[in-house]
Amino acid sequence: MDVIILRDSDAVAAEGAALLLKVLRQKSNAVFGLASGRTPLAMYKRLIDDSRAAGLSFRDVTTFNLDEYLGLQATDAQSYRAYMQREFFDHIDIDPGNTFLPECAAGTDPLEVGPAYEKLIRSRGGIDLQILGIGRNGHIGFNEPTSSLNSRTRIKTLTRETVAANREHFDDAAEQPQLAITMGIATIMDAGHIVLLATGSDKAAAVRQSVEGPVSAMCPASILQLHEKVTVLLDEAAASELQLLDYYAWIAEQKCKLLDSLKER
Ligand code: GLP
Repeated sequence: MDVIILRDSDAVAAEGAALLLKVLRQKSNAVFGLASGRTPLAMYKRLIDDSRAAGLSFRDVTTFNLDEYLGLQATDAQSYRAYMQREFFDHIDIDPGNTFLPECAAGTDPLEVGPAYEKLIRSRGGIDLQILGIGRNGHIGFNEPTSSLNSRTRIKTLTRETVAANREHFDDAAEQPQLAITMGIATIMDAGHIVLLATGSDKAAAVRQSVEGPVSAMCPASILQLHEKVTVLLDEAAASELQLLDYYAWIAEQKCKLLDSLKER
């Protein structure tokens, strides 16, 4: 696990965008796993601007979002589909037919959405790079504490805490769903590279438990300790409760030295 501590949330957004664009440069038909929520908003802005500036195209890219509320349609402004269109897809040259969320269209059996989503991800060759945010209770996607660490895309009941945290996005509490369809933890773990973004002091405890705590279903993000290639991008506030802060800074220093010495060769 690479734990990278950056000055502020802008630097986290810039680094997240840079990692994604690096993959796009190497593979024009890359498959990206994307997240919603407040945290990745600045990264999407950077991606729009930086891809334009670098002349990079999303024409052949496929995206799979982590989750969607059950009961909201794409036309609902609070749906994650609407969020993705508004914040990202409408501003890049991606083929709309290659952007997927675990949506349950009216008339579809919600129990069929998960297995179909898994099949679709596999049919596109799997996810090259997965962007993740983290909930204050350590959730990833909508995999709440006690989610099976081997879970696949399915319906999840949100905790009261998560419902409260996302309340501000809904004008009317009665319209806020308590259920969602989310990629499972095993689905997320199948990605080739996972990049977790966390900013702000309200994420510090979840970050500490995920990075330095025991692997436990009580903190779903802690499973990332078992993945071969994870980059954790934190601002100083989100990193503030980590025990090994000095060690992460030391690693960054040694890495720079190594890269410099390789350049000189
Ligand atoms: C939401 C989403 C997650 C997101 C997390 C944190 O409920 N389902 O995918 O990463 O909670 O959200 P935020 O970035 O708004 O703090």
